[in-house]
Amino acid sequence: MTQIEALKRKIDSLYEERRESRDEWADWLHKNHIFIVAEIAHDLAKRYDANDDLAIAAAMLHDIADAVMSRFAPDHEKTSAEIGRKLLQETGFTEEEIRIVMDDAIRYHSCRNGEVPKTTEGKVMATADALAHLQTDFYAHAVESKRDKQSIEEIKDWGLAKIDRDFKNKILFPEIQKEAESSYERQKSFFINLT
Ligand SMILES: [Fe+2]
Ligand SMILES: [Fe+2]
Repeated sequence: MTQIEALKRKIDSLYEERRESRDEWADWLHKNHIFIVAEIAHDLAKRYDANDDLAIAAAMLHDIADAVMSRFAPDHEKTSAEIGRKLLQETGFTEEEIRIVMDDAIRYHSCRNGEVPKTTEGKVMATADALAHLQTDFYAHAVESKRDKQSIEEIKDWGLAKIDRDFKNKILFPEIQKEAESSYERQKSFFINLT
């Protein structure tokens, strides 16, 4: 078994334990998002000459605390970092590799406040996450799960801000940004026309 296969098994078993503390959305993300980000990261790693295993590991571990707690829990980020580091150690990644995955790629994957990853692996992962958001039914699903909790106006504000961050801040390769333009425009009209 490769290190990546071993890591995937550990992530799957973390999600297999049922937990009340987890958001409903987390199980959807486990089945429909995390491994798609990993596939896109794999393609981008080849294209931009990043270390494939590290880009994939970062993709699979981004927001891993979703498996055990709500995304909005105050210690979500800290817990993600702890679980990620532990799983990487258990699957034999070196300290230097763990630093790239955890302290750069995952730490800065949200690309907030002008902070972006510095390593190619980190750039690949943030870009892959944004592409997965813009090019799958991620937003369609998010809207459906928010409908009973938030008003249409709140959902629109959330979605329009998030697709903007995906397209403008998280896609860190100009070529890829060009390629994603039509997906971004499609998501934008999806939110503008939401009723
Ligand atoms: Fe995230
Ligand atoms: Fe994501």
